[in-house]
Amino acid sequence: MERTTPVIPAEDIARQREYCAEIRQLNAQLPQAPLAFVDTYGCQQNEADSELLRGMLVEMGYEIAHSEEDASVIIINTCAVRDHAEQRVFGNVGALVHGKRRNPNQIICLCGCMAQEAHVAERLRQSYQHVDLVFGPHALWRFPEFLRRIYLRRGRIFETQNSDGAIAEGLPVRRSGTIKAWVSIMYGCNNFCTYCIVPHVRGRERSRDPEIILSEIRQLAQQGYKDITLLGQNVNSYGKDLAGGIDFPTLLERANAIPGDFLLRFMTSHPKDATPRLFDVMRDCEKVAPVIHLPFQSGNTRVLGAMNRRYTREEYLEKVQALRERIPNIVLTSDVIVGFPGETTPEFEDTLSLVEQVRFDALFTFIYSPRKGTPAAEMEDPMSKEEKSANFNRLVEAQNRISLEKHQAYIGTVQRCLVDSVSEDSRNNLNARTPGGRLVHLNGDLSLLGQFVDVKITGCSTWALFGQLC
Ligand code: SAH
Ligand code: SF4
Ligand code: F3S
Repeated sequence: MERTTPVIPAEDIARQREYCAEIRQLNAQLPQAPLAFVDTYGCQQNEADSELLRGMLVEMGYEIAHSEEDASVIIINTCAVRDHAEQRVFGNVGALVHGKRRNPNQIICLCGCMAQEAHVAERLRQSYQHVDLVFGPHALWRFPEFLRRIYLRRGRIFETQNSDGAIAEGLPVRRSGTIKAWVSIMYGCNNFCTYCIVPHVRGRERSRDPEIILSEIRQLAQQGYKDITLLGQNVNSYGKDLAGGIDFPTLLERANAIPGDFLLRFMTSHPKDATPRLFDVMRDCEKVAPVIHLPFQSGNTRVLGAMNRRYTREEYLEKVQALRERIPNIVLTSDVIVGFPGETTPEFEDTLSLVEQVRFDALFTFIYSPRKGTPAAEMEDPMSKEEKSANFNRLVEAQNRISLEKHQAYIGTVQRCLVDSVSEDSRNNLNARTPGGRLVHLNGDLSLLGQFVDVKITGCSTWALFGQLC
């Protein structure tokens, strides 16, 4: 298939795996396998990247640890989307200096989206001397090469050049779970919403080959995975850089045709590219879960324009209607930003009224955070922090009430749920998910983990449902 995105040649990937083998031999001479710890911030894309990093570490002979204690290699996989996330990373990376003093051979790495920001790399270079290796998402596939260089002759490495990005296939992966799995279908973003750093750090949209994606899903289904999430910053752009003419709904249909008892989810969908055809395919494909994350960001058309979202309030509402006509029980979640530069309180109230009108099942609410290098960071932002917080609190209160009311409507119904984890709470020792992804607490035998079971919903809170096995 012809494509416009460069793919890393197979021999380059093979060379990285040779480096893995070389380090493995060195590690094999140690009295016991050294430990490596990967700490992940940010979105599912980063979680998926961390699974690749762990795959490479395992291939290099490391054992994966669950904390930084005694780790020979520490990787911090970072997120740059809001200032709060970055400050947490700086705090935690700063604290690693003590461990490094006790164990000077420890190798500390920082990767992910923050590494791709020039001012962050500079700060690490100057003020965080204990960090040995800094590399951005574009260089992830070269991690074995970097680690080998440091392993053999120390010194610091900064691999943070800007890039449009490429596709790297054939890296080893160590998945974190046995029930749920991530499958990246594309990387990067072309949308350049004016507030957002992602296109600046993750490069241009590029799609993985459909045959590779489908064979990965097939393999996951055979291994018994029950819940598979297809990942991309805007999955609705899938295939635009591939010459074969495949689009996202077609990919979903083909994934749906793979034999097995599993659910398919996807995120994220940009509303401007969410089409009636996507909604038709969601309705008609029995494995596609009845849930969609459709970030609206603002309910005011002027603010949406300033955000460069390329849809109006009315267009967003029309999409929601088209979706609900086809799938009445669809679980709808969204992201919203409060306090975008220049947003007035009456404009914020349009966001509030959209939330009341749509009645999302859950909402991820954020206060605007200026990101260096984005157009919004240069816009006038006269509203005080206090006023933004007051608006934010009004929104959260409204959504909490709606979430509770939506949960109350489940009481008395029977839901086919996937039991996906063990809970800390001894009265409800299992967690499960409805097809639409709502959390259900219940009591049952641990052998139910990874199984679909019928659950009668008996109670709820704002955040979760409570149920009993039927
Ligand atoms: N690609 C996804 C979103 C990725 S970032 C999409 O387009 O929907 C996840 C969410 O973080 C965004 O939906 C937005 O609500 C929020 N966000 C992004 N940049 C932000 C910023 N500068 N300040 C506050 N919230 C932000
Ligand atoms: Fe950011 Fe917009 Fe791209 Fe989402 S679509 S990652 S919000 S630029
Ligand atoms: Fe954060 Fe990068 Fe994801 S900025 S939200 S980790 S793409």
